[in-house]
Amino acid sequence: PRPILLTRHGESRDNVRGRIGGDTALSDAGEIYAKKLYTFVEKRLKSERAASIWTSTLQRTILTASHIPGFPKIQWRALDEINAGVCDGMTYEEIKKNMPEEYEARKKDKLRYRYPRGESYLDVIQRLEPVIIELERQRAPVVVISHQAVLRALYAYFADRPLKEIPHIEIPLHTIIEIQMGVAGVQEKRYKLMD
Ligand code: G3H
Repeated sequence: PRPILLTRHGESRDNVRGRIGGDTALSDAGEIYAKKLYTFVEKRLKSERAASIWTSTLQRTILTASHIPGFPKIQWRALDEINAGVCDGMTYEEIKKNMPEEYEARKKDKLRYRYPRGESYLDVIQRLEPVIIELERQRAPVVVISHQAVLRALYAYFADRPLKEIPHIEIPLHTIIEIQMGVAGVQEKRYKLMD
């Protein structure tokens, strides 16, 4: 069986400031993660010559992959973070204060709530379909470096978790979730590379 390794990008500068969306580079801790990820992937996949690394088109995932040599890297727009529309670049506190109706509407139905001029979780789930088809088709391991909302949806697909749980699944930073699909079903291992 071939593994699929799911990970969020290393901590970004916007993560540190609590801002959602954006396209910032990595924080110092995020940089350290990128290096640890390289060591991990090199060891884990050294005999897997056909393996590939998939990222989003956002800097923080591309930079997280940048230390990993020797494998083809593919950028997918479909792996970009949920588009927060008019709220892009804001903190949750700012949304709560400046757009209380939006904040409440999202709290009430996080799965269906669509940011003005942005996306909902359902939109993200839909745009991931081609990625999932391609992942299912791969015979070699794939390392997917993406974002929290997107990985919630991808993980839920493989772990067979119900739709309504998706927006609330915990996908911690600096942790690799390894999914193995075998005849006996799906197996999962987690590797926490940093505290
Ligand atoms: O920047 C967006 C977050 O990764 C998604 O988190 O859907 O829980 O607000 P949230």
